[in-house]
Amino acid sequence: MTIRTVGVLGCGLMGSGIAQVAAAAGYKTIVREVNDTALQAGLGRIKKFLADGVAKGKVTEDAQNKTLANLTGTTDTDDLEDCDIVVEAIVENLDEKRAIYQAVEAAVRPETIVASNTSSLCITELAATTKRPDRFGGLHFFNPVPLMKLVEVIPALTTSQETKQALASFAASLGKEPIAAPDRPGFIVNRLLVPYLLDAIREYERGLGTIEDIDKGMKLGCGYPMGPFTLLDFVGLDTTYYIANIMFDEFREPRFAPPPLLKRMVLAGYHGRKTKRGFYTY
Ligand code: CAA
Ligand code: NAD
Repeated sequence: MTIRTVGVLGCGLMGSGIAQVAAAAGYKTIVREVNDTALQAGLGRIKKFLADGVAKGKVTEDAQNKTLANLTGTTDTDDLEDCDIVVEAIVENLDEKRAIYQAVEAAVRPETIVASNTSSLCITELAATTKRPDRFGGLHFFNPVPLMKLVEVIPALTTSQETKQALASFAASLGKEPIAAPDRPGFIVNRLLVPYLLDAIREYERGLGTIEDIDKGMKLGCGYPMGPFTLLDFVGLDTTYYIANIMFDEFREPRFAPPPLLKRMVLAGYHGRKTKRGFYTY
């Protein structure tokens, strides 16, 4: 199938990145947020990333202008009617995702593919909430989307071979490297990454070291680009907490359980960089 117009649901950390790379790849891109304040914040993030890219000599002014010209924002799901694919990147919550799929399906054509950027929810369960379980799949991008090369392609049990191929081709057309991942909580990368991040919090609570020293240890001792607490703040503590709960719910193994400190930080509104406070203050 030919994809010309891309819809993105949510213009938060991930949705803004997905909308940016889709527009940069030449697709007409429409991103939907819940209200104008959230939309302008997300579009502002894209504009800043592109402007920084120009200042660093990584993005040409022509590419910046073409990307922005391909991009529009909306708060109305009906504006997604012409989309050939819609990538959902809203909050990690089954009920919220189910509700937005219903609204999207009322607007788009029957052949439109719907993909979720969920980190941990069951793709088959998400597909089953739609009227297009064969034209639905997981398309898991990594943060920051414009810089991270990987996309996991996750078929639901019901996803057709054609949809699976279309999702992988779409990811490749964005300049990403697609890999096939199974429909299990955390897919491949988060299955290994999330227990490591949760373990860092648990061991910090047990007095392993300071946040700064644990971060420095993993960065300088292992060559990781970010220590676990910097990465937790970067991913979002709220998102990490939702992911941990979903993975624990499925696996029932203590290593996936959210540590008490993570829960309390989320309840306190310390969600990491996006709220200017997490394990560090920004
Ligand atoms: N536009 C274009 N290019 C840019 C740019 C911009 N605005 N900003 C930076 N870049 C380029 C830089 O020029 C640089 O390119 P070169 O390597 O060619 O020099 C590259 O991007 C790296 O940028 P910086 O040197 O400024 O930054 P850095 O070296 O500190 O790297 C980072 C930043 C890529 C985010 C790095 O810290 C990193 O990889 N962190 C780990 C991120 C990670 O693990 N993400 C996954 C999270 S888990 C997830 O996403 C899944 C989930 O479900 C939770
Ligand atoms: P975020 O909190 O930064 O953004 C979510 C955005 O969705 C918010 O701006 C919110 O206003 C918006 N939203 C909520 N309901 C909506 C709706 N009905 N329609 C349109 N917009 C709506 O979260 P995020 O980090 O971008 O995560 C989004 C999704 O991507 C989640 O499923 C998450 O698990 C997944 N994900 C996150 C990361 C990460 O590192 N943060 C990486 C990969 C995947």
